[in-house]
Amino acid sequence: MNLTAPRGTQDILPPWTTAWQWLERKFQESCELYQYQEIRIPTFEHTELFQRGVGASTDVVQKEMYTFEDKAGRSLTLRPEGTAGTVRSYIENGLSSQPSPVKLYYQLTAFRYEKMQKGRYREFHQMGCECIGSAEATADAELISLLSHYFKALGLSEIQLKLNSIGCPKCRPIFRQKLMDYLRPHLAELCEDCKQRFDQNPMRILDCKQARCAEIAEEAPAPLDYLCDDCREHWESLKALLEAANIPYQVDRRIVRGLDYYTRTVFEYVSSHVGTQGTICGGGRYDGLVEEVGGQPTPAVGFAMGVERLLLEAEGQKIELPQPAVPQIFVAAFPETQQQAFMLCAQLRAEGLRAALDICGRSMKAQLKYANRMRADYLLLLGADELAKNCAKIKKMSDGSEVQVHLDELASVLKSLEA
Ligand code: HAM
Repeated sequence: MNLTAPRGTQDILPPWTTAWQWLERKFQESCELYQYQEIRIPTFEHTELFQRGVGASTDVVQKEMYTFEDKAGRSLTLRPEGTAGTVRSYIENGLSSQPSPVKLYYQLTAFRYEKMQKGRYREFHQMGCECIGSAEATADAELISLLSHYFKALGLSEIQLKLNSIGCPKCRPIFRQKLMDYLRPHLAELCEDCKQRFDQNPMRILDCKQARCAEIAEEAPAPLDYLCDDCREHWESLKALLEAANIPYQVDRRIVRGLDYYTRTVFEYVSSHVGTQGTICGGGRYDGLVEEVGGQPTPAVGFAMGVERLLLEAEGQKIELPQPAVPQIFVAAFPETQQQAFMLCAQLRAEGLRAALDICGRSMKAQLKYANRMRADYLLLLGADELAKNCAKIKKMSDGSEVQVHLDELASVLKSLEA
């Protein structure tokens, strides 16, 4: 029997879970400030949702999905991302009847059968936002502003925002034709994947990481040069808003994103710290997706970031990550005072103090050693004498200094000492 975690999955253990909680809490706070509300969607969906939503020609759908048949023969897929499910839920639950735009955020696990590398896993975690119902560049800018607020709240710097526009169904066919005309003479030199992309989705060739494909893409026409008037106006407004808000960005004419639903704005936050997987966050506008999966035509924009990559980035930038909270007091007891120690701890906890005691039947010596390992702030030794006098000494573990306290006043004394 193989009892290790499956390849590409990882256990997230303490003290790391504390850092995770912090990242998630800060994200929730940012979302609340920008008035995004949480949505929780199923872990698996009908496979067709991703085929239609994410796009049948994408790597995600063609190679990376965890698809299985359930006992009734339905084809189901573990979500490779959160946007398609959120849009499905928006349509199914009639959220379009709510004040528009509907602004939703999520924190979820996603699954992609990918080659394992640093920052690239088969089960990973995304935090993301979807703003459904606004076509305005202000919606795009507000999302980017939320991200910039969030990164600041974490103390992160040095993450570059790369921005592009890839047009809409009106202007993209013209660009696509120009691109195909340019690529056709180079077809034999492209990698096998790009040869396939040539007919299905030639735009993806622009961000292929293979050396020769990248060289060829260097000289290729870019979507920005073929934007229609509406797309150009949208693009210019977005840039003007970001400039007005002092949010730095770099135009990257080659960003096209790996999922098929994008229109107009696409963006990525890139860093040099996350090994080879430099993209911490990706997003953009997807004005056709709601209609594509069965709703009314509804413009939308969103992003998702990888929590694992964000943490690697925070480590790379030497951000001090929060550690688990230690006991404020450890109550050491003898067999005859164990019950009172148990009650005392319950009272202290009711007062909001982190109290700990031995629950393993340790000797007094072993309890003191344990209190040390737990890095408790204070130690109280509860003997029969202390109970009789209703008085005990508490010892500060860091310097050995002692304070005499009435057991009735223990909570308030501890609170003032800790403050
Ligand atoms: P994505 O670029 O495929 O976009 O993924 C977003 C982020 O998830 C990436 O930037 C990366 O940080 C993280 N990520 C992706 N794959 C992995 C992996 N195998 N291991 C670790 N982290 C990974 C989306 O998923 C879109 N749904 C984003 C979006 C939302 N667009 C509009 N709304």
